[in-house]
Amino acid sequence: MQFKEPLFFDIHKENKDANVQELSQGLLCPQATLSPKYFYDEMGSVLFDAITLLPEYYPTRTELEIFTQQAHDIHAQFPKHATWIDLGSGNCEKAVNLFSRSMPATYVAVDISVDYLSNHLKDLQAKYSEVDVVGVGMDFSNSLQFPEKLQQQLTQKPLLALYLGSSLGNFNPTEALYFLERVAVLCKKGKPGSGLIIGIDLVKDTNTLERAYADDLGVTAAFNLNVLRRANQLLGSDFDVRDWQHIARFNVQESRIEMHLQAKRNLTVQWHGQQRPFKQGETIHTENSYKWSIENFTAQLRKSGFKSVQHWTDPKSHYALFWAS
Ligand code: AVJ
Repeated sequence: MQFKEPLFFDIHKENKDANVQELSQGLLCPQATLSPKYFYDEMGSVLFDAITLLPEYYPTRTELEIFTQQAHDIHAQFPKHATWIDLGSGNCEKAVNLFSRSMPATYVAVDISVDYLSNHLKDLQAKYSEVDVVGVGMDFSNSLQFPEKLQQQLTQKPLLALYLGSSLGNFNPTEALYFLERVAVLCKKGKPGSGLIIGIDLVKDTNTLERAYADDLGVTAAFNLNVLRRANQLLGSDFDVRDWQHIARFNVQESRIEMHLQAKRNLTVQWHGQQRPFKQGETIHTENSYKWSIENFTAQLRKSGFKSVQHWTDPKSHYALFWAS
C-alpha cells in the first residue's frame, strides 16, 4: 500500500555563532538574561509537556475547556475547506483536537523544532489521508515569509491561522503588535473568511499566577534550571545547576510573570576566556510571560489590522480564545 508523505520545508538555519554571541551577551548584561528559546531542547520539550499536566498550570487545560464548552460558536467562525497554519504547532495535538469538528483541506504545521515536527507529521498524514499535511521548519518570531511555492498556495483558499497555548505571552506588547500585524497581512492574502484563532492568558490574582509558574513538584523549576545545561552545551560555560534556585514572580507594573534563576552563593561563571561574577541573591532573567486583559488584547488585535474581534472565556475568566478577522 502506498502512503502519502507530508510535504516538508526546512528553512530554519541553526546558527551556532549567533547562539554563542547571544548567550554571551545576555550573561554579561547588568541584569543577566538567557532567552526562553533555549528552554526547548529534547529534555526541555518533555519537561514543558509535563508542566501542562500539573494541577497548578491551568492555561493548557483551560484553553481546551473553552474549545470544548464553546465548540459550536467557535467552529462557526472557522472558514470551511481552508488552509490551516498552525504557528508553533509543537506536537500538533492542540490543532488536531479540532479536526473532529472542522476538517482543514490543508494543514500547515510551523515550528522551530524541525525533527520533533517532522516525526509527528508522518503519523498525522497517515491518519488523515484526506488532508494535505505540510511541515515548515522555521523561526517565525521575526518574519512570516514562507517558501515561495507555499506562499502561492496560501492565496488560493481561506486561511485559518492558529496561535494556541498562550505562546504570545513571551512577546512584549511591542513585539506582539509586530507579530500580529504580520499575521493580519497573511490573513488578508487568503480568500475571504480568513482569520486568526489565538489563546491568551489573562491577568488574575497574583497567587494563582505565581503558583502556575512555581509548582509543588518542582517541574517548572527543573524546566527553568535546564537552561543552564543548555548554556553549558552551546556556550561551553561551567554553570553548576546546584548553585541556582528557581524564582517566579508576577510583575504587576509590566503585567508579566518573570522567571529568574537566583545564585545561592557568590560565584563566577566562565566560558571561552570570559567570565561573569554573581553575588549571592543575584539573578539571571530567563522568561517573561505577559498576561493581558480582554480589553487590552481586543484593542491590540484591532491596532494590528484586524477589523472584527470576538472572544470566549472560561467561567473564571482565567483564559481567553480570540477570533480576529
Ligand atoms: C509556552 C510561553 C506559553 O509562558 O506559560 C510555562 C512557558 N514557562 N511554564 C508560558 C512556560 C514556564 C509557557 N509558554
